Amino acid sequence: MASKAKITGVSHYVPPKVLTNKDFEKMVDTTDEWIITRTGIKERHILEDGKGSSYMGAFAAKRALEEAGVSPEEIEMIVVATVTPDMMFPNTACLIQDQIGAKNAWGVDVNGACSGFIYATAMATQFIETGRHKKVLVVGADKMSAITDYTDRNTCVLFGDAAGAIVLEPSEDPELGIIDYILRSDGSGGKYLYQLGGGSLHPASHETVDKKMHYIYQDGRTVFKYAVAGMADITEEIVKKHHIDSKDIKMLIPHQANMRIIDATARRLKLDPEKVLINIHKYGNTTAATIPMGLSEVYQDGKLQKGDTVLFAAFGAGFTFGSMLLRWAI
Ligand code: COA
Repeated sequence: MASKAKITGVSHYVPPKVLTNKDFEKMVDTTDEWIITRTGIKERHILEDGKGSSYMGAFAAKRALEEAGVSPEEIEMIVVATVTPDMMFPNTACLIQDQIGAKNAWGVDVNGACSGFIYATAMATQFIETGRHKKVLVVGADKMSAITDYTDRNTCVLFGDAAGAIVLEPSEDPELGIIDYILRSDGSGGKYLYQLGGGSLHPASHETVDKKMHYIYQDGRTVFKYAVAGMADITEEIVKKHHIDSKDIKMLIPHQANMRIIDATARRLKLDPEKVLINIHKYGNTTAATIPMGLSEVYQDGKLQKGDTVLFAAFGAGFTFGSMLLRWAI
């Protein structure tokens, strides 16, 4: 029987520069109180100019490999979830492959926005389960500051920069590792959250720059409505499918877009607050990085034991959404 994939190393990287809510009070018409009450965010980290998502991803990847005791040369495949690649091509996976010296790996980027890390991990899992690869690196990295309009109060307070990475290897025990996932999308939601410019439909031009088409656009109220229902539904679906009682869940690691969206999912699963990873106050929404970064923090804090049931949940642009069930294997 094919083996499951298990996480054998996890780490993250956060750039040192911090933008606080107080900083935003000087930049746009907002208040610390508004941002905290509506989103839960207090501060976010911003990567310096001259560095891209691959820099953060490579940093997190190197540390995850050390955690796993795997050398870069042993990695066979790299999957990078990002909506802020360093450039249109070459892909970020190739850039990270070079930076970490994973000279035997091939790599590809996955654009699944805030669900990108779950999508990328699900894809990587297939290569382990079929026996095709034994050591795969999955990275979630986003420099959201690169596509954020710091004059638009509707979006600029929400996002931050970070990366997280995991190493996947075959699990000898079929009860441990990535047990299942549910992945969905609803492209009719694309019009509510997007970055229009720079692709083949609207290539970069003076007009796209003048019309601010290279920045994130979000209809926050509509996205919020879909996200609250979407993330809770897909997480409940995987829990019910596997007949898991809320008391048996050790940690829910949800995408960090808005505290109120996370609360809705936690309430639906009837989870005690200490079982829900919350770090949105420190980092804001770092898109593909939120889940591996959350997992890394939980693991570093010593909160996970072998066999613990862990859930990932996400909702994002596309719309994309997904949930993942794993039993911790380290
Ligand atoms: N400071 C002060 N006021 C702000 C503001 C800010 N930073 N940003 C928006 N506002 C204003 C709006 O202009 C609006 O004013 P109006 O009523 O005069 O038009 C008012 O606050 C309420 O706006 P609204 O959009 O209804 O607020 P909200 O409670 O929905 O919160 C978000 C806004 C963006 C925080 C929230 O909608 C959200 O989190 N959306 C989903 C994000 C998400 O999940 N994205 C997908 C994953 S990436």
